[in-house]
Amino acid sequence: MPIVTLAEVLQPALKQGYAVAGLVCLGWEDMCAYTRAAEQENMPVILQAGPGCREHTPLPVLGAMFRALGESATVPVVAHLDHGYSIEECREAIDCGFSSVMFDGSRKPLAQNIEETAAVAALAHQAGISCEGEIGFVGYAEGESSAGTDAQEAAEFAIATRVDAMAISVGNVHLQQSESDGLDIDNIRAIEACCDIPLVIHGGSGVPALQRKELAKTTKICKFNVGTELRMAFGKALRQSVSADQARFDRNAILKDTIDPLCEAARKVLQSMR
Ligand code: 13P
Repeated sequence: MPIVTLAEVLQPALKQGYAVAGLVCLGWEDMCAYTRAAEQENMPVILQAGPGCREHTPLPVLGAMFRALGESATVPVVAHLDHGYSIEECREAIDCGFSSVMFDGSRKPLAQNIEETAAVAALAHQAGISCEGEIGFVGYAEGESSAGTDAQEAAEFAIATRVDAMAISVGNVHLQQSESDGLDIDNIRAIEACCDIPLVIHGGSGVPALQRKELAKTTKICKFNVGTELRMAFGKALRQSVSADQARFDRNAILKDTIDPLCEAARKVLQSMR
C-alpha cells in the first residue's frame, strides 16, 4: 500500500488506545525485519532514519528504501526522519519522499523551539506530510541529562506549532540498555490534561514493556521510539551468525541470518504497545 503519514497512524491509535512503534533503522536488514514484524502482528509501523543512520547512508537512498518497503507492505508504513536538527535537513527529507519529519529544537530556548518547529510543521503540511516536535529535553544514558516537560509549555507548544505529535520528557532517557524504573505518570497526566495531540516517548528501550502496554492503553501516548533494545538484538544475532560458520565470508549470507531473530525481537516490541 502507499506509505502513510504519521498523523494517519497516530490518530487511530489515539482514539482506539494503542501505540505505534517508531523503530530506529540502521540498514536494509533491520528495515526488512521491522516491516515483516509489523505485517505478522498486523500493526502499522514507523521506520525511522535518525542521525546515526543518516551518517552511514545518504538521505535520498533511505527515503527510497523506506518507500519501496512501505509500498510493498500489507500494513501501513510511515517513512520518518528522526531528530532533524535544522529546517534544511527536514526540507531535504520532504524532498526525498519521507512522509513524516521530526524537528528537534529541544535544546533551544522555548520561543526559538516554537518558531522553528512551527516553520517545519508548515513546510511538512504544505507537502501533505506530518511533523513531530519535542518539548522538554530527553537526555542520554551516561550523557546529557534530561529537562522534564512542563505541562503549560507543552500546551503552548502544541497550539503554536500545529505539530501532529509531540515528544515529551517524563523520565525517559535515550540509549538505556536495561529497563528503568519507568516514567513519571503524574507528569504525563498533567500534560495530557491540557493537550489534545498524540504524545511521543523517545528512549522507549528503557521503558518496562508492561508500562508501555499500560500507557498505550490508558494515556495519549501513541508512539514509542525504540532503538537500543533492537540494536542489541541485532548485535547478538550478528555475533551468532558470524561465529556459526567460520568459513562463511559472504556479507549477504551472514546478514540474512540476523533477519529472523530481529523480526522476533521487533514483534515483542510491537506486542508491548497494544
Ligand atoms: P532508544 O535507543 O533509547 O530506544 O531510543 C530511541 C529513540 O528515542 C530514537 O529517537
